[in-house]
Amino acid sequence: MVCFGFAVGEHMAEKIVLLGGNGYIGAAFQKFFKKQDIVFSSLSRKDVEYTHGDVLRDFLKTHKPSFLVNCAGYSGKPNVDACELHKAECLAANAVLPGVIRRVCEGLGLPWAHISSGCIYTGDHGCGMGFAENDAPNFSFRHNNCSFYSGTKALGEEVLDGASGCFVWRLRIPFNHEENPRNYLMKVMGYDCLLDARNSLSHLDEFVSACWQCWEKRVPFGVYNMTNPESITTREVVALVEKSAIGVSLKARGKTFRFFESEEDFMKKAAKTPRSNCVLDTRKLQSVGICMTPVRDAIERSLSQWGKCKI
Ligand SMILES: NC(=O)c1ccc[n+]([C@@H]2O[C@H](COP(=O)([O-])OP(=O)(O)OC[C@H]3O[C@@H](n4cnc5c(N)ncnc54)[C@H](OP(=O)(O)O)[C@@H]3O)[C@@H](O)[C@H]2O)c1
Repeated sequence: MVCFGFAVGEHMAEKIVLLGGNGYIGAAFQKFFKKQDIVFSSLSRKDVEYTHGDVLRDFLKTHKPSFLVNCAGYSGKPNVDACELHKAECLAANAVLPGVIRRVCEGLGLPWAHISSGCIYTGDHGCGMGFAENDAPNFSFRHNNCSFYSGTKALGEEVLDGASGCFVWRLRIPFNHEENPRNYLMKVMGYDCLLDARNSLSHLDEFVSACWQCWEKRVPFGVYNMTNPESITTREVVALVEKSAIGVSLKARGKTFRFFESEEDFMKKAAKTPRSNCVLDTRKLQSVGICMTPVRDAIERSLSQWGKCKI
């Protein structure tokens, strides 16, 4: 949905501007705002060219929102390999645009949030707890070891370093109960062969709710790892799928889950660029009183609701 101006809802105190609201993550914000009767305006570049600072500034000065959420970015379809082919778009959307929005929002004194990613890290930090918000990215252009996508997301965070009135919300491998090719559980069920790796994941609807709570509770601005607590391996996810109703139905239709022998095997056979597999430390979010469900429980719940209902 694209709307100009602000649809009238019940709670008139908040007026939110959403950039990139027609994308996968932006659509989840739209769904949440509608359900909560939060007044918002979702902008698409084809209607308001918000990547141009002057255009964005004029829109914000006219409509005077209380908060802006930037869900615009370039993540590549069907996956990050596409970013290796579309570098200019990827750089513009992930590294340049955050700087444009920062300049405009700081100039207007408008608080805002940027959707970043945990993909700027690789590994579990060696301590089991994962990377904290203030750990320097180790999967970035500065380490010369990353995908183009991850490199641009890390640059985007550098551009926002020290920004005032800004949240940086790090999402990681979104999933929920809805059939969508971008849903991680759908990918796990659909891929011919899987890479076994340990990761932090984000339940998409819980992520959106937790983001909103950051703003609603007025927790301190800054970077937050917005993933469900605890990490999980791909094999563990498959085990949860296999024991769910959807997994039993897939098995009845002949589905078997196969794994690459190693990351090298995966790179050789199925990928153009290295993937980030990483664990994020979620204690900062918990310390401000915002809790997400432990990842295994969130996956089991999504599988039990698979395709049945809307949260
Ligand atoms: N999906 C994931 O797995 C994931 C994981 C972690 C982080 N993230 C981050 O979440 C944000 C949203 O991702 P998404 O998956 O929702 O992406 P998406 O479905 O591709 O939507 C992103 C939106 O960004 C806007 N946009 C602005 N400049 C663009 C450009 N140069 N090229 C392409 N699109 C541009 C487009 O909206 P309009 O043209 O309508 O304005 C587009 O609909 C991104 O910053 C991404 O890095 C995503």
